[in-house]
Amino acid sequence: MTVDSSSDAYWRTRGPFWQREADLMARAAQALNQPLIDAANIAPGQKVLDLASGPGEPAFTIAEMVGPDGHVVATDLVEEMLAGTRRRIADLGVSNISAKIADMQALPFEAGSFDRVTCRYGIMFAPDPAMAFSEVRRVLRPGGQCAFMVWGPRPNNTMLEILHQAIADEFGGANQHDGDAPFRFAANGSMTALFDAAGFAQAEEREVEMTPRVETGKPFWEVQFRMNVGPLLAGHPDAAPIEARIRKKVEAGFADTVVDGHHQLSIHARIGRGTAPQVGG
Ligand SMILES: C[S@@+](CC[C@H](N)C(=O)[O-])C[C@H]1O[C@@H](n2cnc3c(N)ncnc32)[C@H](O)[C@@H]1O
Repeated sequence: MTVDSSSDAYWRTRGPFWQREADLMARAAQALNQPLIDAANIAPGQKVLDLASGPGEPAFTIAEMVGPDGHVVATDLVEEMLAGTRRRIADLGVSNISAKIADMQALPFEAGSFDRVTCRYGIMFAPDPAMAFSEVRRVLRPGGQCAFMVWGPRPNNTMLEILHQAIADEFGGANQHDGDAPFRFAANGSMTALFDAAGFAQAEEREVEMTPRVETGKPFWEVQFRMNVGPLLAGHPDAAPIEARIRKKVEAGFADTVVDGHHQLSIHARIGRGTAPQVGG
């Protein structure tokens, strides 16, 4: 089983599962988009590059904000993940987004092409993050800004913690720890040296912490369950019993989060924000 989340093969197998859930995920994740959009200072008329867009967030939300005079280029390493974005562009009839395959470590754009670069839960997957930061700096116009949302520590993210643990209990090597690619930037200050080395004039990091309370009796984790467990079981000869075992553990994990009749969850994201130097600055 492939567990290297920095590899294109990993994302190719996940693409169809993510695409199926794209519309539900887009609605569910609006609370996460806002702090990223605020950090990037998105405004009407801007030309924005979104990296690792997958099925399209935050690209679609940003497209609404930049309006008809702006444009968003949604990009991803693999076609299978970007397929959700392409479908949604057609379904929603949005004219100010385009989709393009792009490895963030070697961006197929001219220097200074964008006012803003955004990335939600993607920059940590580049095998060479220094190249990605450097490429972002190159394609930003002088004074342009970027904002990258990454995961904070795994234990502070209830959904990931419970799902990843249940999967790891079954498959062993699938466990992901702080320090592994998805959690590479979980610690405060972990992006600073990369912003500096890439030549950004200013950089800062901020925490985004939320503690949603969710009604019991509704399996709110189902979408994430399908996206995370589905690719591991596709074509597996023992899919049904394995799924049943993982499901039991996930249900038990969420049962442990109940406080006063509600699930008490936590989400901990982090945002790294950089500003490209002004010409001659
Ligand atoms: C966790 S998903 C995030 C998708 C979307 N931004 C969201 O928040 O729902 C991570 C995405 O990073 C993409 N990715 C991984 N490595 C990449 C690279 N080197 N360049 C561009 N995209 C990459 C994957 O294909 C995948 O779509």
